[in-house]
Amino acid sequence: MSVTELENLDTIVSLAKARGFIYQSSEIYGGLGAVYDYGPLGTELKRNIRDFWWTEMTRRHDNIVGLDAAILMHPKVWEASGHVEGFNDPMIDDKQSNKRYRADMLVEGHIARLRGKGKAEEADELQQLLDTAGSRNGLCEDLHQIIMDHEIRAPESGAFEWTDVRQFNLMFKTQFGATSSGDDGDVVYLRPETAQGIFVNFKNVMDTARQQVPFGIAQVGKAFRNEVVARQFIFRMREFEQMEMQYFVEPGTDEESYDTWLNKRLEWHKALGIRQHKLRIHPHPEDKLAHYAADAADIQYEYPIGWQEVEGIHNRTDFDLSQHHEYSGKKLEYYDQKKQKRYIPYVIETSIGLDRTVMMALCDAYREEEVDGDTRTVLKLNPEIAPTEVGIFPLIKKDKLQDLAHKIEEDLRGDYKVLYDESGSIGKRYRRQDEAGTPFCITVDFDGVESEGEDTVTIRYRDDMTQDRVPVSRLREVISDQTKSWKPE
Ligand code: GAP
Repeated sequence: MSVTELENLDTIVSLAKARGFIYQSSEIYGGLGAVYDYGPLGTELKRNIRDFWWTEMTRRHDNIVGLDAAILMHPKVWEASGHVEGFNDPMIDDKQSNKRYRADMLVEGHIARLRGKGKAEEADELQQLLDTAGSRNGLCEDLHQIIMDHEIRAPESGAFEWTDVRQFNLMFKTQFGATSSGDDGDVVYLRPETAQGIFVNFKNVMDTARQQVPFGIAQVGKAFRNEVVARQFIFRMREFEQMEMQYFVEPGTDEESYDTWLNKRLEWHKALGIRQHKLRIHPHPEDKLAHYAADAADIQYEYPIGWQEVEGIHNRTDFDLSQHHEYSGKKLEYYDQKKQKRYIPYVIETSIGLDRTVMMALCDAYREEEVDGDTRTVLKLNPEIAPTEVGIFPLIKKDKLQDLAHKIEEDLRGDYKVLYDESGSIGKRYRRQDEAGTPFCITVDFDGVESEGEDTVTIRYRDDMTQDRVPVSRLREVISDQTKSWKPE
């Protein structure tokens, strides 16, 4: 059987839309750039991945507790964290008109004009350069180079007298309160990372959850970034979801803890069902470390757009707690009674994008297989995260078969996400579930209900398409065994 893996991101974008995993936001109005909605299957997949993470981080560690902080926070948080000063995007000024433009949008406009003039090849080349801006000499320099090389002129003045490209802040701003005057004093930000909600609640959690260092706080929630280059489906979004955990440790034990968490997190990706050879650790070189980090590494996945970060592991030192300690005037220290020692804990952070993980799971599971001269598209997802776990089909629309199929559906419904389907040929029904990643399909046929003794059904396994005939009473056991023993191919 010939098997093809995913080669092009567009294939996943089309499947995601056609099968109800992911849609463009506000599509009927032409869409909103880099914002996406999850459809029925996508919602289940995302929820299952979120639960898989939550279970691992909180249920399996008795010293990690959960938090659900608000998206809006006191504006001083973002001064203390360094985001007001340093969380930026590139802008360029036209020296003739003194007008300011976003450098990426300027290039986008030029691409659109090229297309309008029928210069598709040139437009494609430029689009490629824009999509990879930041990978050569840094974002500002790469964008400046594109503008210079392609002689892109200011849209209004027509001049070609640009400044250098400089950075502008990525945080979304909004006004606070119905009586807001619109002054800068009323500005609040949509959080660009969930982590700060954890730092500012460090003392609350330590006091109320009676935790002692080392301990962790885990959180899942939305984050917002007004991204410059945002056109790789759900890889780079303006509204996205993060799953972050901050592990508070005694200074001096941070390096060991960092190594431990890096390994633990890599193992989690494998347990999620991602193939090992598509994962790698990419340590950040010392000169590229963020201002707060003593050590950092990405867990990368080989997407169709190349090796890219899914998760970041950072040793954030005592930077954040010290900053909030200073800006708020509240002591964010820990007193170790046994050692009679007071200190600001160091933080090991694990930060993973939920949407990037969804995209990784879809890309990794995608296969096209030649079966009897036909092509089947199948998502070989880990059964634990599959949006639908069991498809239940009566072979044909006859009472006897429909009744037993409904009985099985009712019985499994409480514990599994099940789908009853009686429309179309059985082959078509299998194919539909293959595309949705459903690992098990149960078919009720006459052989099973008319033979002597207990009713039997066939259970068909998505990955190799083999089938077993099993008594109805053994279905749960078979599904559970198969789920536990599942391995990615
Ligand atoms: N608190 C640390 C932090 O936010 P980050 O590397 O900026 O670190 C962490 O983000 C993770 O969030 C990334 O590894 C990525 O998976 C996800 N992420 C960041 N920006 C994103 C975006 N624009 N769209 C989707 N996911 C994003």
